[in-house]
Amino acid sequence: MKYENILIEQREAIATVIINRPNKLNALNRDTIQDLHDALQALDVDKKIKAIIITGSGEKAFVAGADIAEFSNFSVKEGGQLARKGQQVLFDFIENLATPVIAAVNGFALGGGLELAMACHFRIASANAKMGLPEVSLGVIPGYGGTQRLPQLIGKGRANEMIMTAGMIDAQKALAYGLVNDVVPQEELLPLCEKIAQKIANNSPVAISYAIKAVNAGFNSTIDGYQEEIKAFGACFGTEDFKEGTTAFLEKRKANFK
Ligand code: COA
Repeated sequence: MKYENILIEQREAIATVIINRPNKLNALNRDTIQDLHDALQALDVDKKIKAIIITGSGEKAFVAGADIAEFSNFSVKEGGQLARKGQQVLFDFIENLATPVIAAVNGFALGGGLELAMACHFRIASANAKMGLPEVSLGVIPGYGGTQRLPQLIGKGRANEMIMTAGMIDAQKALAYGLVNDVVPQEELLPLCEKIAQKIANNSPVAISYAIKAVNAGFNSTIDGYQEEIKAFGACFGTEDFKEGTTAFLEKRKANFK
């Protein structure tokens, strides 16, 4: 399938989704959000794909935000719809995807770009990356989950400072904050993400999808995360992966998950 605003590269069990609007620093317009949704949905149901990497094209930006030109004259109603639809179609969608998604933050990740990275299951950054939520400098607030996920990831005080100042932090500070898991030179970013994705791909995809569900449940005030973990743990015992994983261990061989 061809998409107008994104490219997809597939290597064995790993798919890399590249947001491809370099002239607009990969800003997320409506069509790009829809393309990302469609592509991620297709990759998620493809049983060959065990891990997904999202990155931006070019050397300058991961994603420099929601496309400001697209919403600059929206009404109150349209603003609310923009946030609601975006959260459903892309940001909550990624967080709850059964396939693990890694953000390879290769440059500016601002506004909706940082929100996209934060919706991914974890983030690795290149040394030139800069991250921030500049929305209040535009007279709005983050609307794609930024006011929720940033405090979850780095704590309320640091998140409030970033949101209120609209400032950017560099990759080293993001690492110190725990916003990204690692920082490497730009040319090493995708190789490192692929290496991590490959490690993930060797494990049980069913167990990983249950783990994603259980971890996410802990951040959902309407669900008891411990109960979700018990349910998911039990469900694992009924899977082929569990049979294969435990049998392989007892037979002193590597598990071969489908
Ligand atoms: N929405 C729409 N277009 C954007 C964009 C965004 N969020 N971010 C960058 N662009 C466009 C610019 O308008 C410019 O387009 P043009 O060449 O047609 O004029 C192009 O991308 C290059 O950006 P430019 O600003 O010239 O690059 P720069 O190196 O001088 O600055 C940034 C880089 C990231 C600091 C600057 O682009 C920026 O502040 N972007 C907006 C960030 C933001 O507020 N995001 C939150 C949105 S809610």
